Amino acid sequence: MENRPQWGTRAGFILAAAGSAIGLGNIWRFPATAYENGGGAFFLPYLFALLTAGIPILIMEFAIGHKYKGSSPLSFARLNRKAEWLGWWQVAISFVISVYYSVIIAWAMSYFIFSFKLSWGQDSEGFLFGEYLKLAEVPGQTGSIVPSVLFPLIIVWIITLGVLLKGIKKGIEAANKVFLPTLIVLFLIIVIRALTLDGAIEGLNAFFKPDWSAIADGKVWVAAYGQIFFSLSVGFAIMVTYSSYLPKKSDLTNNAFITGFGNSAFELLAGIGVFSALGFMAARQGVSIDEVVTGGVGLAFVVFPQIITEFPAFNQFFGVLFFGSLTLAGLTSLISIIETFVAGIQDKFNVSRTKSVLIGGGAASVISLLFSTQGGLYFLDVVDYFINNFGVALAGLVEIVLVAWVFRELNNLQQHANSVSDIMLGAWWKICLSIVTPIVLGYMMFDNVRKNISENYEGYATSFVGPFGWGVAALALVLGVAFSLKGWKKESLSSKEENGYGK
Ligand code: ALA
Repeated sequence: MENRPQWGTRAGFILAAAGSAIGLGNIWRFPATAYENGGGAFFLPYLFALLTAGIPILIMEFAIGHKYKGSSPLSFARLNRKAEWLGWWQVAISFVISVYYSVIIAWAMSYFIFSFKLSWGQDSEGFLFGEYLKLAEVPGQTGSIVPSVLFPLIIVWIITLGVLLKGIKKGIEAANKVFLPTLIVLFLIIVIRALTLDGAIEGLNAFFKPDWSAIADGKVWVAAYGQIFFSLSVGFAIMVTYSSYLPKKSDLTNNAFITGFGNSAFELLAGIGVFSALGFMAARQGVSIDEVVTGGVGLAFVVFPQIITEFPAFNQFFGVLFFGSLTLAGLTSLISIIETFVAGIQDKFNVSRTKSVLIGGGAASVISLLFSTQGGLYFLDVVDYFINNFGVALAGLVEIVLVAWVFRELNNLQQHANSVSDIMLGAWWKICLSIVTPIVLGYMMFDNVRKNISENYEGYATSFVGPFGWGVAALALVLGVAFSLKGWKKESLSSKEENGYGK
């Protein structure tokens, strides 16, 4: 462990952490989530979730990774032998996310190329589901692999694994130093143009208009917490892994604030850009914003292509900018998601980085082929929903309960963070982690389980959501426990004492 690689600069680490946080979740998930949950009024629960859960958990994960200097499984094992399974569970969740997240980036890459000819024509919906994805008729059918998805998917894997093979400083840090600033510039151009379109003001009015009655609804608070978790990449094993590569003297608390606020700033920017564009489209079609708002796949690959076609000028150019942004935002997050299992395999099985990238990345890339089939979109929809709700958010809840209440490690972690940071953590941090967030997240889990048991997600057949929804979420947990059963090489766990990181 003494030879553990390190980030080259503080800015390099912040760019990598922000690159992980800023992803597809910011661009296609946030705007629609905010709109559907009270518009301007959503900012209240959103800020509350950011300040009571997002940033406090981020600080905690930075402190765990930095103090115990290991991949997530190794760091949790060093925190307490009985916590290792949690690290593996989160790694397994990241593995599941990587196999479909990579496919969405592949779609974005295809659309980047389609933009040059506006290939989707006048019927962007028919183009996406028919011509491009060749979508299967029945959810759960795989059909054959779709070559036009397979080729960009291979490119996604070559880029991502290529970056990871080069290591922390020369690979991940170097890639983020190029990708993230490029993304911000591209996105700013889109937002400025969108703001000057006819109808933009109406779009922004719809986005920011507060519906204060919404904040009395528990569901809105749940949506805010869900958004913050996914968007900040907490509960994924990512931030523990990334902070394990920080040098000894690193300001953890400040870094967490910069990452958290940076991510939210980008999210807000995305909301402004998306709603200006939606306002433009609604004005063009003479309909209300309600009729054009959508999130996820529909927003990025159906509505945006339409908007791009309707742009007054430089249509191709804006298509390239938009899908280029989506690709870059996705790649920097995917790199961090895969690094969790690359680091985990490397620590536990004592193999070289090259081997662990090839084994971990190889396995993920093979499984991702399922999502490049004709039935891929349905599998993606179900796996994504369940792994987020009963993977990321649940593992986040278990993480804070274990650290705060079972292993009672908050004081140690607070001391550790305070010993290296300018901003001192006080009662706010501990109360948020030990009381506020467990209560809100606990309620969120309870409510979500109840909802999903009484009604299948999206009305899909039980024979489909059973194995691919509940089954995949449960498998991540089982794999987590299974991996933790294998012992460590003797020195692995004891090196924390050698390094002075022991309790
Ligand atoms: N945090 C990443 C995103 O927002 C996973 O997409």
